Amino acid sequence: MKRLAILASGSGSNAEKIMEHFQNSEIAEIALVASNKADAFVLERAKKFDVPTFTFSRKEMDAGLLLEKLKEENIDWVILAGFLLKIPIELTKAFPDRMVNIHPALLPKYGGKGMYGSFVHEAVKAAGETETGITIHLVNENYDEGRIVFQASTPLTSEDTPDSIAEKVHALEHKHFPEVIEGLL
Ligand code: GRF
Repeated sequence: MKRLAILASGSGSNAEKIMEHFQNSEIAEIALVASNKADAFVLERAKKFDVPTFTFSRKEMDAGLLLEKLKEENIDWVILAGFLLKIPIELTKAFPDRMVNIHPALLPKYGGKGMYGSFVHEAVKAAGETETGITIHLVNENYDEGRIVFQASTPLTSEDTPDSIAEKVHALEHKHFPEVIEGLL
């Protein structure tokens, strides 16, 4: 049985889909949901699934507290699901090819610094793209540059707004992320 930790900073709708997917799994369990935001809704979602939670500040993470916790909990895989802080290098090194992130666009487009959440969808809209999508990738020291393991796309029209783009992207994320994780384990 693989032990997974989910790191998330916000609402956690992806985290919820992942918890749902692995609820009765014989392959993996979600052993921890960790957040840098004490009021993140993802923590409420974790409670619903009886998944233990852990909160920490950026300073504590940079000082190694999160890594310590992940080791203590014997975590095998780390899932980033809307986690907004830059991961310390020690942490990426502790989970070589065992840390996975979801990015709400078709990398290498719309990745890198400042490209998160609504900023991504606004940039996609401003560029008049005819499609967008999701990228699931392993995490290495250069955040958005780890090996891509999965992409899926969705068409856009000129009628789409950043909000409707976000909705389309979320639907793709919810559909694919849990299964892609399972495939990686
Ligand atoms: C997702 O769009 C994910 O790709 C991104 O942050 C968003 C998190 O959404 N990096 P949620 O918290 O899972 O609802």
